[in-house]
Amino acid sequence: MKADATMQPHAGPSSTTSDQSAMSNQPGGKTGDGVPGEPVLPEVLVNVVTPAQPVVGRVIESTLCTRGRKASGFVRHVAIDVSGTRLAGSFRAGQAFGVVPPGVDERGKPHKLRLYSIASPTSGEDGQGQVIATTVKRTLDEHWETHRLLTGVASNYLCDLSVGDDVQLTGPSGKRFLLPVAPEQHDYVFFATGTGIAPFRGMIKELLAAGVASRIVLVMGVPYTTDLLYDEDLQRWAQEHPNFTYLTAISRDPGPDGAGSGYVQDRLVTHREQLEPMLRSERTLVYVCGIAGMEVGLIRGLAEHYDDEVVSQFVRVSPEAGPWSQWDRRAIGRSVRATGRLLLEVY
Ligand code: A2P
Repeated sequence: MKADATMQPHAGPSSTTSDQSAMSNQPGGKTGDGVPGEPVLPEVLVNVVTPAQPVVGRVIESTLCTRGRKASGFVRHVAIDVSGTRLAGSFRAGQAFGVVPPGVDERGKPHKLRLYSIASPTSGEDGQGQVIATTVKRTLDEHWETHRLLTGVASNYLCDLSVGDDVQLTGPSGKRFLLPVAPEQHDYVFFATGTGIAPFRGMIKELLAAGVASRIVLVMGVPYTTDLLYDEDLQRWAQEHPNFTYLTAISRDPGPDGAGSGYVQDRLVTHREQLEPMLRSERTLVYVCGIAGMEVGLIRGLAEHYDDEVVSQFVRVSPEAGPWSQWDRRAIGRSVRATGRLLLEVY
């Protein structure tokens, strides 16, 4: 996943951040209002490697992570060996790293780095924190006026890399979208669309490997069944771990009975029996990653279908917000603000 602009790296040197403030993950970074069950997030390293002095990693894997070649987009799982660099062992699941594409832009300036979410657990792909992976979708578009093909610089660079190629990296970035210090004290509902699955792949892997008894539900939204990412792995994990449930929401491909169709927020209704007890529990953290509209849809969906006792655990609603049907992107973060139990990473 191409990470959110709010994860822009800071110019300063490496730093460790104690993130009690991240108990409050409101858009805009304001402090939490202290709902029961807010997580304590870990201290993390950020900007160990700065853009001025990127390190060189080596691609060791690049595989399609859709369910075959008929997907509506091209999404690859790219794993990079960072052993011997300052990135090794310095990242946590949920953080991002920077990729510096070679060459210059149309103004002759070196390409700026782009951030990609780490799709690996804190222990990396290798179990030793030496290999980080990301989930990257090729950006392909058509110029509105010229009709020429536009190709995203970094995403296509990353997708074009072969095993053995070197790549310049920075990071890690991000200090709020993390698993809590005491993961066993919480249950988890993860909502993802598209490559928003990246941080959740790492987090879920980490939780399952730790053997926590926590309940974990992933709701994954994509346009077509063929776009489901890491689908085989997720299905297998759900079979192997009774505490992990994998739900999908397919927006454009209703399937034989239509049961799996819709947006991720539709699962608040169709899987109410499963989700309501979790959302009512003070243990539960809700993580959201992907398309920005999902954030609005989910928060409105909660308010439409659940009572205040549930809603108030995840959002603080000011009187000026008006009825839920008027909540839009602008309201969210201002008059409808996430509590520390709702962690958002949308773009
Ligand atoms: P659609 O585009 O069919 O309306 P991807 O990143 O692979 O394009 O997937 C994004 C997924 O999120 C798609 O299934 C897309 O549906 C869906 N989506 C689009 N808008 C919203 C929204 N407001 N809330 C939830 N999901 C959305």
